[in-house]
Amino acid sequence: MKKLGNKIVYELYPISFMDSNNDGYGDIKGIIEKLDYLQLLGIDLIWITPIFKSPKNDNGYDISNYCEIDQSFGTMDDVDNLIEEAKKRNIGIMFDMVFNHVSTESEWFKKALEGSKKYQDYFYIVKSNDKVNPPCNWVSKFGGPAWKYEEKFNGWYLCLYDKTQADLKWLNPEVREELVKVMKFWIDKGIKGFRFDVINVIGKSGKFINAEDNIGKSFYTDQPIVHKYLKEINKASFGNIEDFITVGEMSSTTIENCILYSNPKEKELDMVFNFHHLKVDYKNGEKWENKPWDKKEFKRLIQTWQLKLQDRGWNAVFLNNHDQPRINSRYGNVKKYWFESSTLFATLIFTLQGTPFIYQGEEIGMTNPYFETIDQYRDVESINAFNEMKAKGMDEKLILEILSVKSRDNSRTPMQWNDRKNAGFSDVKPWIDVAKNYKQINVESQINNPNSVFNFYRKLIKLRKENEALFEGKIQFIDSEDSLIIFKRTTFNKELVSILNISDQEVCYDVKQFKYIDILVNNYKEIDLKSIKPFQALVLEIEK
Ligand code: GLC
Repeated sequence: MKKLGNKIVYELYPISFMDSNNDGYGDIKGIIEKLDYLQLLGIDLIWITPIFKSPKNDNGYDISNYCEIDQSFGTMDDVDNLIEEAKKRNIGIMFDMVFNHVSTESEWFKKALEGSKKYQDYFYIVKSNDKVNPPCNWVSKFGGPAWKYEEKFNGWYLCLYDKTQADLKWLNPEVREELVKVMKFWIDKGIKGFRFDVINVIGKSGKFINAEDNIGKSFYTDQPIVHKYLKEINKASFGNIEDFITVGEMSSTTIENCILYSNPKEKELDMVFNFHHLKVDYKNGEKWENKPWDKKEFKRLIQTWQLKLQDRGWNAVFLNNHDQPRINSRYGNVKKYWFESSTLFATLIFTLQGTPFIYQGEEIGMTNPYFETIDQYRDVESINAFNEMKAKGMDEKLILEILSVKSRDNSRTPMQWNDRKNAGFSDVKPWIDVAKNYKQINVESQINNPNSVFNFYRKLIKLRKENEALFEGKIQFIDSEDSLIIFKRTTFNKELVSILNISDQEVCYDVKQFKYIDILVNNYKEIDLKSIKPFQALVLEIEK
């Protein structure tokens, strides 16, 4: 059986990581420059979000050639070099496979436009003379209808995301064969893992029926055929490679499906990302409305997903990524408890069961940038949402406030390397503004400080790798009030307990009930045996 719990994955958003040629955009050579830094942190794999050829309407998730590197990031030689240099440091590279859709600038789509029947069958095209009403009422994840009329097709094509991201027709076996070829190409190059973008929405039946909820998710999410497709591509490409790791991004998914996606016996994927715990600050499921986060529901979701997948599936555990605002700004309190809340959430992901994923900048406690004007935003989803809210007559100040909390750009600002110009990311003005707090929060000021967030992460990573109880042990939750998450991790000879206060209030708790042998983690200087301080994280080794 593959060991997955002692692997630590670092998600890297290359456009904002390091700019080596001073054009304002991060690049592959920039990543190579920083490999020693990543090795020092102690991670095993780097998931790099798409660096393939792309018009970048959705920051590279709109790929026009899966086997070519976008020149803004560098060349194929740079990729070969990256793979080799990473390997020298025992780091594998994981690539992002965006297979639900392809850019309308891809050869496949262009040939379809030119009239090729073969390539038209790569997409969901519905012929129609009605140019006003789409084939059905499904909506795009980025706002508006999930369809676009194309004169050259004399009909509509399906696009669940941006209009330039056309959904690929997985129903057509030739499409699946093409995608397998792409995977084999990268496997041959020495890539060690794939992250599959929104992979649970690939199973469209080809029949487009109006949805009662006027959204349509239930028609294309987690369809039974997705399991068949995953088994097929697993067998045809990565399935038999011993040390290869796959993770699927699952949109609005269910536990039952995630067990199937990630149970080794099913031979689909190694693990799953689900997002339910990152929606507890949505108001009635609506992202673009601010609401304080619901701790109780967060705790319930963490607990349920951990227990239900225990022995039956495998979670990728994470709280940050390139689509999510920074967790310390979001569920923590960066004004009063920046260090405590950043390290508290870190301790949660490094002591749960699953494979921990961290996102660039998280390891130094980077926060949301608190942009103040709409022209600071770059993200297509955020700009569409801004326009939609404005069209509804909402006050611009309120809209900007919502974006400053919820926008995906909150996590996409340049990596803060030092306190010099542009945070050391680039000599020229970056493609998106640097967060104003880079003088206080940056790598250089933390790397040699034993009490920094960075060194806290290093310590957690080491602890995780040295303790079987953490990477392989069972998990058992202990009842407590809503502000505390408490669980034991156990192997045959060792037992650890994590006591985590997810609130900004001190909570009474009898720590002495655990006969502890050692304090492994504490983000405060002291331990009070009768109470847990705001955002305090404790990991204790206890008598078994
Ligand atoms: C995933 C990506 C996101 C992208 C979307 C469409 O959710 O993480 O960044 O916009 O898929 O590809």
